[in-house]
Amino acid sequence: MTQPSTPASQVLDRVLVLEMVRVTEAAAIGASKLIGRGDEKAADAAAVEAMRAALNELAMDGTVVIGEGERDEAPMLYIGEKVGSAQGTGPRIDIALDPLEGTTITAKGGPNALAVLAVAEEGNLLNAPDVYMDKLAVGPGYPEGIIDLAKSPTENVKAVAAAKGVAPGDIIVCVLDRPRHAALIEELRELGCGVVLIGDGDVAGVIAVTNPDTTIDLYMGQGGAPEGVLAAAALRCVGGQFNGRLVFRNADEKSRAAKWGIADLNKIYTLGELAKGDCIFAATGVTDGSLLKGVKRMKDGLITTHSVVMRASTGTVRWVSGEHRNKR
Ligand code: FBP
Repeated sequence: MTQPSTPASQVLDRVLVLEMVRVTEAAAIGASKLIGRGDEKAADAAAVEAMRAALNELAMDGTVVIGEGERDEAPMLYIGEKVGSAQGTGPRIDIALDPLEGTTITAKGGPNALAVLAVAEEGNLLNAPDVYMDKLAVGPGYPEGIIDLAKSPTENVKAVAAAKGVAPGDIIVCVLDRPRHAALIEELRELGCGVVLIGDGDVAGVIAVTNPDTTIDLYMGQGGAPEGVLAAAALRCVGGQFNGRLVFRNADEKSRAAKWGIADLNKIYTLGELAKGDCIFAATGVTDGSLLKGVKRMKDGLITTHSVVMRASTGTVRWVSGEHRNKR
């Protein structure tokens, strides 16, 4: 007879924390063969295949809740796919993943591409449809509620500047470099803010607000909703605040919201609503970036990786350097 799955509260144990790094390492190493090769699809496919194989080696009853797309559009790691070698018996966990966050970056050999995933107890990650999300993030150390997506960029910059004890013009904001952000960038520049424009990769962009070395105070703008949930999981572990609002641009996207049980299309989600309870976030650098160094393929088959893995319930952050041999 099949044993019942392990209760969710015992699921995210210590072993799983370190196992998650193996999964993101595998995806990053897979994608690294395609760095600078100009082929986004091949890079993504290599990362997906490697991540899926690594996930399927883990003794868990996992479900992909944020993945490569709907079942009919993604052959592997689609939303709803069961992963892990202990289906029905192992710990039941939900997984949000992006085997290659920054496909274009990787194809062009640019900075900040990551392999990322977040895991949580069943039901604790927002099952966000693959639409855009308005994002607003600030690092740790500010009063709760200092940022508010319902307010204007100017109001948010002024609030953070006042709490930091600097002028609004001293605030540095990271924004994805997209035409849709022209008005936002203009508003920030009128305030005198420094605007750090990134070409892609807003998971790293959001996490940058938690790292004083980046000097980035705020993240603002619209990017992928799945990436928003992943970034929220990271901030749950290291601190900081995040607001996200799903953006439904047409009838098709609105109908997908209904399918996912999202009734209030204008809802502003806080950190705890995007990633609840205990969660683990892991990332491995594919290319060098502000968070992590990328995969390096050295002579004699040596491959080096740099990863971070963090857990919300303990606040532990581990930086993991890997040396891999006998991998192609
Ligand atoms: P991919 O890895 O899927 O290319 O995503 C990269 C990314 O820059 C994300 O970090 C971001 O959330 C999203 O694309 C922004 O979407 P768009 O390129 O449509 O503006």
